[in-house]
Amino acid sequence: MRMAKKLDLERILSKQGFGSRKLCRIMIINEEITVNGLICDDPSTEFELENLKFTVKGQTWEYREKSYLMMHKPSNYECSHKTQHHPTIYSLLPHPLVERGVQCIGRLDEDTTGLILISDDGQFIHRMSSPKHKVPKVYEVTCKHPILQTNIHALLSGVKLIDEDETIAALNVTQIGERIIHMTLAEGKYHQVKRMVAAISNRVEALKRIQIGELKLPDNLEIGEWRWLSDEDMIQLGVH
Ligand code: URA
Repeated sequence: MRMAKKLDLERILSKQGFGSRKLCRIMIINEEITVNGLICDDPSTEFELENLKFTVKGQTWEYREKSYLMMHKPSNYECSHKTQHHPTIYSLLPHPLVERGVQCIGRLDEDTTGLILISDDGQFIHRMSSPKHKVPKVYEVTCKHPILQTNIHALLSGVKLIDEDETIAALNVTQIGERIIHMTLAEGKYHQVKRMVAAISNRVEALKRIQIGELKLPDNLEIGEWRWLSDEDMIQLGVH
């Protein structure tokens, strides 16, 4: 029989990103924490981790060994922790998640919007970002000038990027409007979409990532919002 994993409340809170063990102990003693609906004021009380729900200052959390989330990235946010010109996307997340050391998987430019995955699971981050796995990504690209059939053929057969030796091709290109295409890429080279569009003598006016693997940016995830990845989302990402 598998033994249920147990841990004391002080360690649980600290592991989940609510601060040092000392800080968590103080919150517990101050009766700021409920577990499965009841106040617990003893930091050494042990709880089973599976399906554990607790509240911190009135907000409910579920114990998660690792965090897996998606965000609808807004424009004018940077994907790094130490930003230069704009606020960081991590400022849109609850503080405990940032404390846990979550990282975004593949950066989007500050002016790019759309789907971004965020996690603190190193294996998952590697699985989703390693060039070996070639997880396809779909971008909605709005260009300055009309996109011609010859341009689409060029993107599909391969274009030469400045500073790259080999040509690079899109996996798929679908024309959505006179100036809008959906372009699927297998790699994530620096400014890849913008450079590929420049190679067809056009210019990106707006860029939005709308899909990673089979996972689409949900219509109901508003710009700037995030949510946990569900089991179904993980299947769409090819992780079972
Ligand atoms: N390609 C780009 O040029 N920019 C992005 O943000 C993502 C892909």
